[in-house]
Amino acid sequence: MKKLFLALVAAMIVAPAALAAGGKVEPYKKGDWAFSGPFGVHDKEAVQRGFQVYRQVCSACHGVKLLAFRNLGDKGGPYHLEQCPEGIPEGTDCSDPNANPYVKAIAAEYQITDGPDDSGEMFQRPGIPADRLPQPFANEQVARLANGGALPPDLSLILKARKDGADYVYSLLTGYEEPPATVNLAPTQHYNPYFAGDMSQLLKEEFRDEEGHPKEGVEIPHGGVLAMAPPLVEGIVDYADEATPETVDQYAHDVVNFLAWASDPKMEQRKRLGFITVAYLLLLSGVLYWSYKTLWAKVDH
Ligand code: HEC
Repeated sequence: MKKLFLALVAAMIVAPAALAAGGKVEPYKKGDWAFSGPFGVHDKEAVQRGFQVYRQVCSACHGVKLLAFRNLGDKGGPYHLEQCPEGIPEGTDCSDPNANPYVKAIAAEYQITDGPDDSGEMFQRPGIPADRLPQPFANEQVARLANGGALPPDLSLILKARKDGADYVYSLLTGYEEPPATVNLAPTQHYNPYFAGDMSQLLKEEFRDEEGHPKEGVEIPHGGVLAMAPPLVEGIVDYADEATPETVDQYAHDVVNFLAWASDPKMEQRKRLGFITVAYLLLLSGVLYWSYKTLWAKVDH
């Protein structure tokens, strides 16, 4: 009985370790996120800079199909205005994203395919706040062709679609490394210790036994390989604000703030409503308790 028990305990300890072998990823770096926690809000300046990083770098391959330009000017959005800036005609309501001058200017910088016109042709026109951000590729096939067979996922909800999304994407973007000497990579594969994969498949011949398994004592590198080359390099995006460093770390931090907003644009309203609800329930509990005590005070037990 005792032996059986010990064997069971041993199996419980060994089995998860065996399962995890080869598939380990590096524990994520922990970012300092303004949006996390019950009091969290979106850092509007970081979201604006992150949008710039998205536009100038990521949008070449990734869409954010759930976003329209007007969302940038919605309440809680990075370009939302309560009041119009100087020089806007009297009577304009700039809190309306369709009238927001920043949103209009950003949209107009894009060419949107519209149509067909009277002669049946599609045509290009400048964007308006109601347009969605254009997609980088016409369809999945073109996207794969341009990316060595891999499909760049839409980023609208990527932070929600991955466990610890913010820390993960931040770690992924800042975590590319030279591949370890024990593995062979194809030119389209890029090593990243934070990307889930199985590096044992890529071990060089001399580190495997006859059956192709890793030899005794050969360490399997953490992480995996992905088709995305490191997208960020120092200085690739020019920030208007001189004080913000133009480093990979800062870009990654800012683009994660943008993606956090994109995946949850109503977060601030939601949290506020949560507080009002909890406050109301607490008050109600107090009133109920008080009325219970008062009503039953005169009843004999
Ligand atoms: C040149 C094209 C290209 C650019 C530019 C690019 N990516 Fe990617 N990205 C890809 C491809 C291709 C994949 C799919 C990789 C794979 O599955 O092997 C990908 C995957 C991803 C993933 C998903 C990883 C996962 O867990 O599946 C994230 C997140 C991501 N990219 C974020 C970004 C961000 C943020 C930027 C801008 C800073 C960016 N990418 C720029 C091509 C690109």
